[in-house]
Amino acid sequence: MRLEPPEKVSVEELKIDVREVEALLQAPPMVLKPWPEAMIPLKQRDGTEKILYIRQSQPSDVLPMLEFMKKVMAVEKDFYDIVGARVYAEILGEYRKRLKDPFTLVGLIDGELAGFANGRFMNENLAISLHTMTFLRRGSLGYAMYYAKTYYALEIAGANEWWSTFESYNGWRMAGLDMAQPSYPWPEYQHELGGARVFYVTKKYWDSSVKNFLKQKLGNDLNFKVTDEVRKANENFRCPEVPEL
Ligand SMILES: CC(C)(COP(=O)(O)OP(=O)(O)OC[C@H]1O[C@@H](n2cnc3c(N)ncnc32)[C@H](O)[C@@H]1OP(=O)(O)O)[C@@H](O)C(=O)NCCC(=O)NCCS
Repeated sequence: MRLEPPEKVSVEELKIDVREVEALLQAPPMVLKPWPEAMIPLKQRDGTEKILYIRQSQPSDVLPMLEFMKKVMAVEKDFYDIVGARVYAEILGEYRKRLKDPFTLVGLIDGELAGFANGRFMNENLAISLHTMTFLRRGSLGYAMYYAKTYYALEIAGANEWWSTFESYNGWRMAGLDMAQPSYPWPEYQHELGGARVFYVTKKYWDSSVKNFLKQKLGNDLNFKVTDEVRKANENFRCPEVPEL
C-alpha cells in the first residue's frame, strides 16, 4: 500500500536490516526447563521387552526426521498421512523459528526413531499438545510418548492446563478415552489443529488421576535415571529406512 507523506521528508526510502524484521517475527522465547531424558521398558507382543529412551530432539535430528516424515505422509492409513504432513510442518516450524515455544521429544530404541511427541506453550499456564506418533506398532509406544510430553508440560515446565485434540481413532483411544479427558464446549472452544474439539487435562486432574495412568496401562513408569548403557545404545540417532506401519 502506498500513501503520500503528510509532510516533507529528508529521506524517501528506508533501508531495513532483515535482522530487525526477524526480531519482530520471532516470538521472544519463554524460559523453559529442559526435558531431562528418561527410559521405560515396553513389553512386546512376542513376550520380549524393548527399552524406549526418550530425549529432547536436537538440531541434528531435524533433517533426517524431515526426510522420514515425507515417507510417512505418503502412508494413507490410520491417519499417518495427515499427521505426518502436520508433523513435517511442525518440525520445520521449530527449526525455522516459526513456532512459539515448541518442545519435541523423540523416543528411540537402539538409536532408531520409534516415537515422536511434540507440543508448545501458549503462555506460562497453558500448554498445547500438537502430535504423537509411533513408528513401531502394537507396543503401546504412543502411550509412553503422549504421557511423557504431558508429564513435561504439567510436571516439569509448570503449566496448569494441557489441551489436546485427536485426529485419529487410535489417538482418541490412547489419550481421550483411556485418560478419560473431558472436552470444552464446541465450537466455542477450538483447538489450533484445524479447529476441532479441545480435550483437556488440568494440573489438578493430572495430580489426582492421570499421573498414575502409565503405571496402570503399561505396568511401568518413566525412569529418569537413564543408565549409561541405554544412553550409549541410543547415541547415534537414525530414522527407519521405510516406515512399516
Ligand atoms: C495414535 C498413536 C500414537 C497411538 O499409539 P499406540 O496406541 O501406542 O499404537 P498403535 O498405533 O501401534 O496401535 C493402536 C492400535 O492400532 C491397531 N493396530 C496397529 N497395528 C496393527 C496391525 N498391524 N494389525 C492390526 N491392528 C493394528 C491395534 O488395534 C492397536 O491397538 P493394540 O496395540 O491395543 O492392539 C499411533 O496409532 C499413531 O502414531 N498413529 C498415527 C498418527 C496419529 O494418529 N497420531 C495421533 C494424532 S491425534
